[in-house]
Amino acid sequence: MENINIVKGDITFPPRKVWFKTFGCQMNYHDTERMLALLTGLNFTKTELREEADLVLFNTCAIRGLANEKFYSQLGEIKHLKAKNPALAVGAAGCVSQIEGNELLKKYKHLDFAFGTDVIDQISEIVYRFYAGESKFFINAWDKSSNYSIETKITHNDPRAFVNIIKGCNNFCTYCIVPFTRGREISRKIKEIVEDVKKLVNEQGIREITLLGQNVNSFGKENDESIAQLIHQLDKIDELKLIRYTSSHPYNVSDELIKTHGSSKKLALHLHLPVQSGSDSVLTRMKRRHTRQHYLDILKKLREANPEIVLSSDIIVGFPNETEEEYQDTLRLLDEAKFDFIYAYKYSSRPGTKAADIEDSLPEEVKKKRLVDLQKYQLDVQTVIRQGLIGKIVSGLVEEARTKDGVKKWVVRTSCFRIVHFEPENPEVDYKFHWVDLELLSATQLSFQGKMVKDHGKW
Ligand code: 5AD
Ligand code: SF4
Repeated sequence: MENINIVKGDITFPPRKVWFKTFGCQMNYHDTERMLALLTGLNFTKTELREEADLVLFNTCAIRGLANEKFYSQLGEIKHLKAKNPALAVGAAGCVSQIEGNELLKKYKHLDFAFGTDVIDQISEIVYRFYAGESKFFINAWDKSSNYSIETKITHNDPRAFVNIIKGCNNFCTYCIVPFTRGREISRKIKEIVEDVKKLVNEQGIREITLLGQNVNSFGKENDESIAQLIHQLDKIDELKLIRYTSSHPYNVSDELIKTHGSSKKLALHLHLPVQSGSDSVLTRMKRRHTRQHYLDILKKLREANPEIVLSSDIIVGFPNETEEEYQDTLRLLDEAKFDFIYAYKYSSRPGTKAADIEDSLPEEVKKKRLVDLQKYQLDVQTVIRQGLIGKIVSGLVEEARTKDGVKKWVVRTSCFRIVHFEPENPEVDYKFHWVDLELLSATQLSFQGKMVKDHGKW
């Protein structure tokens, strides 16, 4: 590689390498990609090898205790690297940093700077300040603009992209730290997003987008706009093939949005709609603002709007003082909802949230057992669903090839978000990023084996 320096202000930036470690949700992964794109302006390229990095950046997650602990332990490991290479810069971004950046800087002497979730677009200034000689600084200012305005930045070679449409959350579910780490809701305008997506499609070859936000159903409220209106506009972009959106809250899934699942030609055949619990009393204690029945009605209406739609959900077990009966209500919800898959979590107390103040008499062992039992229960539910799909034709995007025991198989992510593996007739053909139709031949609890019946070519 040519050794070309970039000069910014008084500082020369030689080619350097940045190693990112990202924890948590899709929003964090997307933020990492954005930071990487911005850092190319200071001559940084990405490395997968921590040992060869000039800059180590952690993008942290605060949603559950486990994610925090993984971060602390990895940050601890970096101390040895810094001892070997004192020029190494170490920074922390993301949700943990937003709420406890100062404490991190005090506790970890080898951490040079920390910054919060709402200043990632200042990453170049932050890194510049470090190379200008500043150290041990922390920025976590909130963006106070009346509208959220950005341009999507991608660095990958994939026809799929995440597009932020709203940030923050005003819901304050009692267990959740997100409103404290991501601030209040603020939306982009539809016009800006449509222009942004057109550019991604026409100039960067993007074919699938996932509209991203902590609570996308609140999108556009302050501008008298809605996510359904946004989807209608995006539907008109010719070369765009597939639209997904996440994360969704049942409280404000509008009838207009449900209808869009029937009318849109581009909405994916999948929706992830977190319910958290099947018990009305737990939902009230969680301040979810929807009942079990309201949630089930939404699923029914979605399935009426589009009988092909596949649904999945998030569940928390062991919310403070969750009774056996309340837990059983959640199991019964799994029977009724017929989710294709779920992400289940054991409740984790987050300091600063309302639920953290509740005196909890439910033993940890019971919580652990409920989690294991619930996961097993759902696997049985989804096995029956999946066995019933054998023989069906599904469509999806070929993601990658994997060779196991000498057999090459292609991995496909379907519009309905399932994973299907198929063995090519000719192992020489490169199917990567082709759109294909597959017949489902057999199912496991988590994936399918299929046979390609039609290759629609590169997306
Ligand atoms: N404990 C356990 N799970 C949580 N989630 C959010 N906060 C907590 C918590 N304190 C889960 C919810 C949410 C998902 C992203 O993480 O199920 O939908
Ligand atoms: Fe957290 Fe509830 Fe907001 Fe989702 S809707 S981010 S669970 S507070």
